[in-house]
This record gives sequence, C-alpha cells and structure tokens, in this order.
Amino acid sequence: MADKISVPRVKLSNDAEIPIIGLGTWKSEPEAVKNAVKDAIDIGYRHFDCALAYENEDQIGDAIKEKIDEGVVVRKDLFITSKAWNTYHPRKLVKDGLKNTLSNLKMEYLDLYLIHWPIAYKEGTELFPKDESGKIVTSDVDYLETWKGLEDCCREGMVRNIGLSNFNSVQIQRILDICEIKPVMLQVECNPYLNQEKLFQFCKDKKLALTAYSCLGSPARPWVQASDPVLLNDPVILNLASKHSKTSAQICLRYLIQRGIVVIPKSTNRGRIESNFNVFDFELPEEDIISIKSLNRNFRAVALEWIKDHPHYPFNAAF
Ligand SMILES: NC(=O)c1ccc[n+]([C@@H]2O[C@H](COP(=O)([O-])OP(=O)(O)OC[C@H]3O[C@@H](n4cnc5c(N)ncnc54)[C@H](OP(=O)(O)O)[C@@H]3O)[C@@H](O)[C@H]2O)c1
Repeated sequence: MADKISVPRVKLSNDAEIPIIGLGTWKSEPEAVKNAVKDAIDIGYRHFDCALAYENEDQIGDAIKEKIDEGVVVRKDLFITSKAWNTYHPRKLVKDGLKNTLSNLKMEYLDLYLIHWPIAYKEGTELFPKDESGKIVTSDVDYLETWKGLEDCCREGMVRNIGLSNFNSVQIQRILDICEIKPVMLQVECNPYLNQEKLFQFCKDKKLALTAYSCLGSPARPWVQASDPVLLNDPVILNLASKHSKTSAQICLRYLIQRGIVVIPKSTNRGRIESNFNVFDFELPEEDIISIKSLNRNFRAVALEWIKDHPHYPFNAAF
C-alpha cells in the first residue's frame, strides 16, 4: 500500500493544494458508496469527487462523518469537490444547490466547487427535466452568471476554491475575461484515448490545474456501445501492464499523474480502490509515455450528444 503521507499534491494558482488522486463517485450505488468511501479513507484517499447530480452525496457524507467521529481523519485533511448542477445556474440559485450538497455531505464548506456543465437546464425540482417527448429541457442562462454565483459562495466561505468542468478553451476564456475570483481547476474527460494535449497546455498557460475524469475510459457508462474501443483492454496498455507487472488501470493512472494531471478513478470494489491508489511505486519511462500518447484518438466516453445543438454545448470547439 502506498505511504499515505507520500501522495503527491498539485499546487493550485492560489497556493491551495489538491491530492493528485481522489475517488470518483458517479454511478456509485448509494448502498455501495458508503463502504467504498470508508474503505478509501482507510486505504489513504483524502480526496473525493462528488456531485449533487450523482444522487449519493448523503451516503458519502455519512461515511465521512463516521470516519471523522472514529478519529481516523480530520476534516481539514480531506479535499472534497462537488459541482453546481445544470438546474441551479441562475446566480440566485447557485447557493441553494450548494446548500443541498453541504447538507447531504454534512459539511460546513467544500474544498472545490465546479460548474458541472456550461449548459443550463430548466430550474425546478427535477434534476433532468424532460418534455413530453423525453427530451431534456434546457434554459438559456449564461454560465457567466453562474460563475458570479460561485464567486458569491466563495466570498461567503462556503467553498474554498472554484472551477469549471466540461468547458472548452473559448468558454474558459470568457470566464477569465469577467471573473473577480479566478477558476483554479478544469475537470474534463482525459485518458489515453482523449489526451487533451491542447486543452491541457491552454490551462497551463492560464494557470488552471486539470483533473481527469473517466481516466479509465468509463467502461460502465450507461450509453456504452459494443463497438466502442475499450481502453483497459487496449493491447498497448496491456503490454505495458505486463512489462511493469501492473494493471491496465494503474498504467492509465500513472500516465496522467506523470503529466501532473489529477485523477479520480471511480470504484466501489475494495480491491480496485486499493490497486488504483498504488501508483506511486513505479515510473513510466519516456518511451512508454510516447507509446501511450500514440493511442490518442479523440474518443469521448462522455459526449452528451443529445444536447449537442445547445449554444453552450462544449464539444463542438476544436479544444
Ligand atoms: N465532471 C463530469 O462531468 C464528470 C463526468 C464523468 C465522471 N466524472 C467523475 O470522474 C469519476 C471517474 O469517471 P467515470 O466514473 O466516468 O469512469 P472511470 O473512473 O474511468 O471508470 C470507472 C469504471 O471502471 C471500473 N474500474 C475501476 N477501477 C478498475 C480497475 N482497476 N480495473 C478494472 N475496472 C475498474 C469501475 O467499476 P467498479 O466500481 O466495479 O470497480 C467503473 O465501472 C466519476 O466517478 C466522477 O466522480 C465527472
């Protein structure tokens, strides 16, 4: 098991630090996520990636509270991220969404709050509002307004850092042009099939750190097709796994970590939660990094294609 103290952190532009590995929680069943989070804390994870839209923050909060009450961990040693959902985009609603998250997580503050998507949905009680034909009902609230809401929450001490998720470079620049508090983080899909070289360079230039979601290729995404490439079974990744006596997942995670990218692999299986964390005792040499880079094919596991005609859809831009 990796030494808990030695997990590297990535410095943000405001000097805050985020552990380079965290536990993802999308699609973690509420019944399973509580044990997963408790196991992860025992293994040494101190960073958790959450969202109101994952509908499991209550159970994550229970797990964290138990571990704090047991004296295993203290709040200040944890790094908790959550995300403002699409139905809370008007400035005056951002705080309501955050209050729900904080209440579910049983916390006074978050370490990082992101705008989950640049696209707004119709406000109301439904997280996924649909019309009679089953189509998502969007709204035209501009994410610049949502950013003002995140800044309000930051000023009030409800969140320590704020950032963006699923924004393209043009959308990030629009935020940078109007912000009073700078975004410190961009969370986007990133893995060997979508290595985000240009967007990562753009973020470096603008002093945003990058978190990679679907860093294992999100094999259990609900819309997966039999014809889609499977990252963890890619022959190049399998060969490197055999060469280093590691798993495919460890190779993918190590590749991102060596680029200075934060990873948040999701698992509710104790063995996989543990092996995903054990990526600090080996290094990929330059020739292996080059082979992994050659796998890039701009394949998106999370493309939200049903909403691609929305003016704020992020993935029509070059990067
Ligand atoms: N900002 C956003 O819009 C956004 C979008 C997507 C994801 N995210 C965040 O990023 C996290 C990770 O992304 P993701 O959930 O899409 O996918 P992922 O982490 O790439 O893959 C998770 C899947 O891989 C399996 N898995 C985990 N470790 C494994 C291993 N060592 N070997 C084989 N299979 C393994 C998991 O199953 P088991 O649980 O059975 O192990 C799960 O089905 C999410 O949970 C969420 O927190 C954010």
